[in-house]
Amino acid sequence: MSSIDFRFRRLRRTPAIRDLVRQTHMSKDDLILPIFVEEGIDSKVELGTMPGVYRWPEAELPEFVQRLWKKGIKAVMLFGVSHHKDAVGSDSWAEDGLMARIIRTAKEAQPEMLVISDNCFCEYTEHGHCGVVEEGDVTNDKTLANLQKQVLVAARAGVDMIAPSGMMDGMIAAIREALDSEGFSHIPVMSYSTKFASAFYGPFRDAVDVHLKGTRDSYQMDKANGREALAESLQDEIEGADILMVKPATVYLDVVSRIREHSTRPLAVYHVSGEYAMIKIAAANGAIDEKAIVMETMTAFKRAGADLILTYFAEQIADWLDQRS
Ligand code: PBG
Ligand code: ZN
Repeated sequence: MSSIDFRFRRLRRTPAIRDLVRQTHMSKDDLILPIFVEEGIDSKVELGTMPGVYRWPEAELPEFVQRLWKKGIKAVMLFGVSHHKDAVGSDSWAEDGLMARIIRTAKEAQPEMLVISDNCFCEYTEHGHCGVVEEGDVTNDKTLANLQKQVLVAARAGVDMIAPSGMMDGMIAAIREALDSEGFSHIPVMSYSTKFASAFYGPFRDAVDVHLKGTRDSYQMDKANGREALAESLQDEIEGADILMVKPATVYLDVVSRIREHSTRPLAVYHVSGEYAMIKIAAANGAIDEKAIVMETMTAFKRAGADLILTYFAEQIADWLDQRS
């Protein structure tokens, strides 16, 4: 007789019983695809550091958004690749600037699609910082004033959700105040509430043509700080954020589970460019099984407590989920 007093393997014997007792599920409903749209180009350009990801010309955005909708991707996050950069990123709050145009184009192409704008300035500034720079640093409150102008332009263009990524203090309260005062109290805000100053954003900066001098260490979070990571998200909840976010995802899942335990708001993770590149390039070299690694990674996000997942793999995941059924 064995001295084993419980046999876990009883519930692992067949696919059917494993399906029955599985504790975490992932579906297309959870996915948001980030999309890069570049002004002034004629055809799409693949990113060298993110194989399978493109900068789309504005003219091809409608077809792409419609294709995604047909596949069951119901939310996209738009990033502009600007040819009109200046010191403060003013194109981002121009009524006919790139941000406003791509929102309008996506909504017209597929009105049911949830169109989210990444609300920041680094894609629109020459120096690549996420706001107004004075004496070598990003000034918080002048940046907030510009952010209020930017989100109103996005709202008037028809955006469904605002997603500020600049890590300015008070950004959620400032956005909420601006939206509410102009009749947009129904538009939700998904805050990049806990965003670390991370080397995992490397490929993204090529993607949006950001030539950053210096670092973002004076506004994005120190990777070493778990308690502060919780406080950052809870502060945004207090200011009225509808959805919270942790970014990057894979190496910050302790932070995800901590926020999950302390907040009842929906929680997103952003599986960022460097995380995408590591899987994509390792798989292309035969080191790992791409689909298995991606699905395992997504499962880990859900298990840690994420409700929503922003990932450049979203379209591929939709294809894989279709194959399975
Ligand atoms: C800009 C922004 C960044 C990302 C989303 N919005 C980069 C940064 O902060 O430097 C990262 C996306 C990615 O790496 O996939 N505020
Ligand atoms: Zn930024």
